[in-house]
Amino acid sequence: MPKNLRRALFITLEGPEGSGKSTQSRRLVDDLLSDGYDVLHTAEPGGTALGRRIRDMLLQKDDIRLDEQAELFLFEADRAQHVEEVIIPALETGKVVICDRFNTATFAYQGYGLGMDLGLIEKVDRVATGGLCPNLTILLDVDVETGLARAAAEHPADRMEKRSRDFHEKVRRGYLALAERSPDRIKVVKVGDDPDGTYGLVKEQVYGLIERYKGSE
Ligand SMILES: Nc1ncnc2c1ncn2[C@@H]1O[C@H](COP(=O)(O)OP(=O)(O)OP(=O)(O)O)[C@@H](O)[C@H]1O
Ligand SMILES: [Mg+2]
Repeated sequence: MPKNLRRALFITLEGPEGSGKSTQSRRLVDDLLSDGYDVLHTAEPGGTALGRRIRDMLLQKDDIRLDEQAELFLFEADRAQHVEEVIIPALETGKVVICDRFNTATFAYQGYGLGMDLGLIEKVDRVATGGLCPNLTILLDVDVETGLARAAAEHPADRMEKRSRDFHEKVRRGYLALAERSPDRIKVVKVGDDPDGTYGLVKEQVYGLIERYKGSE
């Protein structure tokens, strides 16, 4: 029988390219499962069948010219479907949901990176999420060069990864600015050269929150 928390828990991992989101979330999910929690591991973009097609349009199809507004709406369309089809149903059955990237990425990439209006993004994002907000967001902060090099060693560059160094610097600074604006929800973890050390910090944040949730009604 999975351990039940008194409330469902929605945890997101964020950070620039190659910051270790997938690496850290996989370890976290493994630990939570072996500790008996009922866990759903998912990711954006592409957490649904529709989303996987949208992901392809956003990240892979170099032959499609993507307007900035269209890019924003595609990310939000992916999110709307993901929230409704996957995340809410899992939370309703009391699962711990671990998601690689969620709406903070849109504020960092389309807001700070592309320079789109943050107020506009907030409005569109609220429609997509229906107001759903993560209980905890781990921001894996890595310098741009290191992150892009790690991502490049892992897979061929996608549309986002091919953007300029300047874009990625703005994304990183954007993420840090967002963390300053929401210090209770967004916890910054500095990524070093040792995935184990980074994971220790991630686990501390997540299990700290779980302990607080166990204790509260
Ligand atoms: N702290 C670390 N030290 C050294 N290598 C790391 C560290 N964290 C992750 N890596 C390595 O960097 C690469 C990228 O990590 P990962 O794919 O988890 O990042 P990501 O944030 O999910 O990237 P993407 O933005 O492409 O989804 C992987 O090969 C991973 O093993
Ligand atoms: Mg990843």
